Order: sequence, then structure tokens, then C-alpha cells
Amino acid sequence: MANRKYIVGNWKMNGLQSELSDISEIASIAAAHPSVDAAICPPVTLIASAASHNSAFAIGAQDCHFNEKGAHTGCVSAAMIKQAGASFSILGHSERRADQHETDAEIKAKAEAVHAAGLGAIICVGETEEERDAGKAVHVVCGQLEGSFPDKADSSWLTIAYEPVWAIGTGRVPEASDVEEMHAAIRNKLGKLMGEGADAVRILYGGSMNGGNAAELLAVPNVDGGLVGGASLTAEKFGPIIEAAAAA
Ligand code: PGA
Repeated sequence: MANRKYIVGNWKMNGLQSELSDISEIASIAAAHPSVDAAICPPVTLIASAASHNSAFAIGAQDCHFNEKGAHTGCVSAAMIKQAGASFSILGHSERRADQHETDAEIKAKAEAVHAAGLGAIICVGETEEERDAGKAVHVVCGQLEGSFPDKADSSWLTIAYEPVWAIGTGRVPEASDVEEMHAAIRNKLGKLMGEGADAVRILYGGSMNGGNAAELLAVPNVDGGLVGGASLTAEKFGPIIEAAAAA
């Protein structure tokens, strides 16, 4: 049986209180398509207001620390994002792997921390252009998946996002056949890592997904949804992606 489609907006470092109206508009579109699980991950400063202004869909965080508390200036814990109203967190986004030098081991620890706090996790994996050109894309992505794979993994809380680094924010999207190959490899690896239950773990595609290409990407086998950056910032852009998921 096909998994329910999951469309997640990653606002990155975008959004002030004035943009909460976009979340309300997106929530109305999500409410009109109950067959799709939709969510937005605003910056941490907007989680509480976004969660209290909307009950139509989930609000997530973009990151959290792996420790419960302590001397980690500028960081937030899983319990903190939960109390603010988040029900899950994106973890190991390639921008954090690059800018904050996050390692697979840290991402695994973060996933276990959010699970212990009763939250969901979306673990991101993806190759650079250099790695793809060298024919190493599947090897790199499966290695990241294995290294960041949490204990007690289960589809009730864990989602994987495949995001080729070279496709993020560039307007470039891989061929459907390349997406198919990678998602099949991730599914196969999940089977090895967790055995039974691997088919129910949703695998999202991310990287320049938009209203024009969503239908094609969401039709690829093993693509259970999308992690969307730029095209999630307004209802005008994000709405068509939710609609494409509902029609998929
Ligand atoms: P993009 O970002 O849709 O702007 O390419 C996706 C992401 O980084 O999650």
C-alpha cells in the first residue's frame, strides 16, 4: 500500500511575525486536502505563534540539540521545541552539515533525542555535485543514512529526506530516473537497517521542488512526499505542491 504523501515546507532563515498570515493561508489549503500530511518548519522564533494560530497541520523545527539541557549557547533542546508547539524536527539538513559541520553521529544523537521527547524526525541525506559526477551518489547517501540512523527507528516518528545538495535552491532537479534509483537504494538500505517496517518509512524528495515539477516527482516510485524550501514560503507557491500530492 502506498504511504500517505507528506509535504513539508522548510522556511530556513526566513519569516517574521508579518509572515504568519502565509502560514494561515497555507493551513487553509492543507485543510482542504486531508489526504495529504502537510507541515511547515518556520524559524524557531515563529514556532509558538505558528502552532497556536493553526491546527490544520503540523509545525516542525529545523534543528535541535542532542542534549536535554546545559551549556550550549544559542541552542534549543527537543523539549523546548516541543513546548513551543513543534511536533517534529528536520535534522541534518545539508546546510547544517556544511555550515555547522554536523556529523552523522550528531544527527543520530539528535534523532534519538527528539524521539525520546516524543517528537518526529526528518533526517536529511544527499550528495554533492562532485560526488554525483564521481559516480558515488548512492554510496555517499547510503553511508549518511547508516551513520545517522537512530536506534528504535520506526515509521511512526522517522522520515528520510533525500536532497541532492546541488539541487537545493538552484532550480536544478535530477532526472526522474535518478530520483527513482536513489529512493530505491534508500528503501533497500532501510530494509537492511531496520528490517520489517522499512516500507512504511516515508522518503521525501527535496531540492527545487515547485508547483511545476511536483506532480512528476511525486509520481516516482518510493517518493512519499517533498521537503520544500523556496516554494514553501507563500500559499501561492506551496498550495500547488499540496494539490499535486493530493492528486498523486
Ligand atoms: P529548495 O530547498 O526547495 O529551496 O531547493 C529544499 C531544502 O533545502 O529543503
